[in-house]
Amino acid sequence: MACQEWPEPVIRVQTLSESGITSIPKRFIKPQFQRPTKTIASPNKTSPNVDNIYIPVIDMQHLYGGDKKLREETLQHISDACKGWGFFQVVNHGVSHELMNCAREVWREFFHQTLEVKEVYANSPSTYEGYGSRLGVKKGAILDWSDYFFLHYMPSSLKDQAKWPTLPTSLRNVIDEYGAEVVKLGGRILEIMSINLGLREDFLLNAFGGESDLGACLRTNFYPKCPQPDLTLGLSPHSDPGGMTILLPDDYVSGLQVRRGEDWVTVKHVPSAFIINIGDQIQVLSNAIYKSVEHRVIVNSNKDRVSLAFFYNPRSDLLIQPAKELVTKDRPALYPPRTYDEYRHYIRTKGPAGKAQLVESSTSQT
Ligand code: OGA
Ligand code: NI
Repeated sequence: MACQEWPEPVIRVQTLSESGITSIPKRFIKPQFQRPTKTIASPNKTSPNVDNIYIPVIDMQHLYGGDKKLREETLQHISDACKGWGFFQVVNHGVSHELMNCAREVWREFFHQTLEVKEVYANSPSTYEGYGSRLGVKKGAILDWSDYFFLHYMPSSLKDQAKWPTLPTSLRNVIDEYGAEVVKLGGRILEIMSINLGLREDFLLNAFGGESDLGACLRTNFYPKCPQPDLTLGLSPHSDPGGMTILLPDDYVSGLQVRRGEDWVTVKHVPSAFIINIGDQIQVLSNAIYKSVEHRVIVNSNKDRVSLAFFYNPRSDLLIQPAKELVTKDRPALYPPRTYDEYRHYIRTKGPAGKAQLVESSTSQT
C-alpha cells in the first residue's frame, strides 16, 4: 500500500519561484555529481557536454501513404530509433496542431491561476491524482524543481472528470478530446512496434489489456523559472515505468535531456511533433530488444516550461513478461513476470531513481 500523506509539508515550486527569491532552498540543491553540468562518466569534471541535437524524426504519413518502399524504409527508421535511442519524434501524426496548442495552453492557464484555485486539487501519494509537487515519499529527499497535475484517462473505471480542474472552463473538454486523439496515435505506434519486433500487429496492445482495458494517464509538468538552474533539476533521471510515453513538449523552451551513453543530450524537437519514448514495460515485453532510456529535465532562469506527458500503459494488474516469441535458448527471458502496479509502486515511493526499478531475473528461463 502506498502511504496516504506526504512526509513533509508540501512546497509549491511555482510559489517559491514567484516569490522572487534569488537563491534556492537547500531542499532543491542536488549533490555535485547530479548537477546539470556534470558528465556521467566523470562526475568530478565540469563539462557542458550537452548539445542541442535532433532525435530521429519520423514522418508517419509515409506509413499510410500506399508507397510500399517508403513504408518499409520508415518501419526500419523507427526500428533503428527504438533500438538505438529509445526516443524518437513523430510528425504528420494525425493529431490536430490546434488541439495540441489548446491542450498545452489550457494547462499553462491552469497553472497561472491563484494558489487557492489549484490547492483544491492537492494530491496525496495514495493515488497521485491531482495537483502535486513531488514524486516519492522519502522524508528529507532532495526535491525536483517542478509542479504537476496528474489525471487518469483510461480505463474508464478510473477516469473521473470530477477530479479534473473546472477552470479554465474549456479544460475538461479540451483534455478529453486531446486524450482520445493521443490514445489513437498510441495504438498506431504500438502496432508499428509489434510489427517491427516480428510479432502480430496487435501483440503489444493485447499485452496491455486491449483497447478498452489499457491504462492511460496524463501528467502535465510545470517547470517554473529557477534563479539557480545549475544547482538543481526539473525532473531527476528516470526511465518511464509504463509502456510508452507520448510527450508534448513546450514549443518555446527546451529542457528535456536524454541519456546517450555517458552524455546527456538536450532534445531539440520539430515544432508540433510529439516525442515518443519506450517505457520499462516495453523493455520487458520485448525482452530488452527495446530499452527504456533514462532522461531528465533541466530548468532555466528566464522562462517557465510546460510539458504534457501522456503515459500509455498496460492495465495495472496484468502480468507483464517477455513475449514467448522473443525468448530463445540464446536469449533467455531476462525478466520475471511482474505487474505494472509493482513497478509503479517503486517510483511512487522512492521517487525518480534512474532505472533502479527494472531488475533482471536472476534465474532466467527459456
Ligand atoms: C516525464 C518526463 C519530460 C519533460 O514526465 O516522465 O520525462 O520534458 N517529462 O517534461
Ligand atoms: Ni519521463
